[in-house]
Amino acid sequence: EKGGFWSFMAKEIADQPKAVADTLLGRTNESGDLILDDARIDEATLRTIDKIIVVACGTAAYAGHVAKYAIEHWCRIPVEIELAHEFRYRDPIVTPRTLVVAISQSGETMDTLMAVRHAQEQGAKVIAIVNTHGSTIPRESDAVLYTHAGPEVAVASTKAFVSQITAAYILGLYFAQLRGNMFRDEIHTVLDELRAMPDKIQEVLDRGERVREIARWMADTSSVLFLGRHVGFPIALEGALKLKELAYIHAEGFAAGELKHGPIALIEPGQPVFVIVPSPRGRDSLHSKVISNIQEIRARGARTLVIAEDGDEAVTPFADEVFWVPQCPTLLSPLVTVVPLQIFAAELSRAKGLDVDQPRNLAKSVTVE
Ligand code: M6R
Repeated sequence: EKGGFWSFMAKEIADQPKAVADTLLGRTNESGDLILDDARIDEATLRTIDKIIVVACGTAAYAGHVAKYAIEHWCRIPVEIELAHEFRYRDPIVTPRTLVVAISQSGETMDTLMAVRHAQEQGAKVIAIVNTHGSTIPRESDAVLYTHAGPEVAVASTKAFVSQITAAYILGLYFAQLRGNMFRDEIHTVLDELRAMPDKIQEVLDRGERVREIARWMADTSSVLFLGRHVGFPIALEGALKLKELAYIHAEGFAAGELKHGPIALIEPGQPVFVIVPSPRGRDSLHSKVISNIQEIRARGARTLVIAEDGDEAVTPFADEVFWVPQCPTLLSPLVTVVPLQIFAAELSRAKGLDVDQPRNLAKSVTVE
């Protein structure tokens, strides 16, 4: 069932173009407008929503973190991301006008399920973004938007992650359509851009050999840092999580802007640091700030492994290695920038002779609190 791949994870990484394409399928009518049949919450109720809280754990929470940037930008609704296990045990401000979005691959994560119940007790509506049909979280939620990633077997989440981002974006655009925050044409343009992403993900996969080579050279590394800004920040967190869980290497992700507030003290000669560089075609100050961050850590001896957009020559003087990704709109870039980080973690784990599909101490779905 691994389809000729050396591991389920390798297969699932390769499945990502299809996972995103399938998650986008069947969401629009003949006029190109979004129709969310599964969303059983009536439109009048949805129009009253004044806050969204995403509850999730691990990689699913990072998908929510990415979606926050897009949904707030498109819909002008505040979006909070809350780890499900933290949400439950504080006193969150939840009202009938709050929409809770529960994101879960398995649909069985106990922490997330408990957060769903906690939200409903306080009168909030819950939409689940889930991959596994018939699982508990969608059954207990008011509405569901299924990701169509297909079964994910490897413990490390990959294709579910890109599908979760895609589904959350569909939800965000649906809101924008419903509330009139965006022009129809703008929504259709973003949908077209989303439909172009599977081919771009495929391009990154086709360039994977260089990432694998570097991962093999780094098999005895004991610490790796990841830096990103804006949507690159949750991708830095995700890259670090993948490396911890698969290769048992100490890894930490930071918002690049935090460097000078502490983490730069960690930089010593030879320290590998991945940096996710935002598109130079996006907000200009963002790009140049990250380039300065690369210069700062390079000056202190860091080995910089940079993920940058094709044609971004500004990065080359300061990068020990560049992993190029195709050009795409900033908000959609996580769908491509995460891929080299997944490949890196999987290959490093393999180079260390570890079980990439079943890392120690972990279960695919965490059904206990
Ligand atoms: O099934 P879920 O999406 O609810 O699982 C949430 C986390 O347990 C999961 O994403 C975990 O962090 C993965 N092992 C990450 O690769």
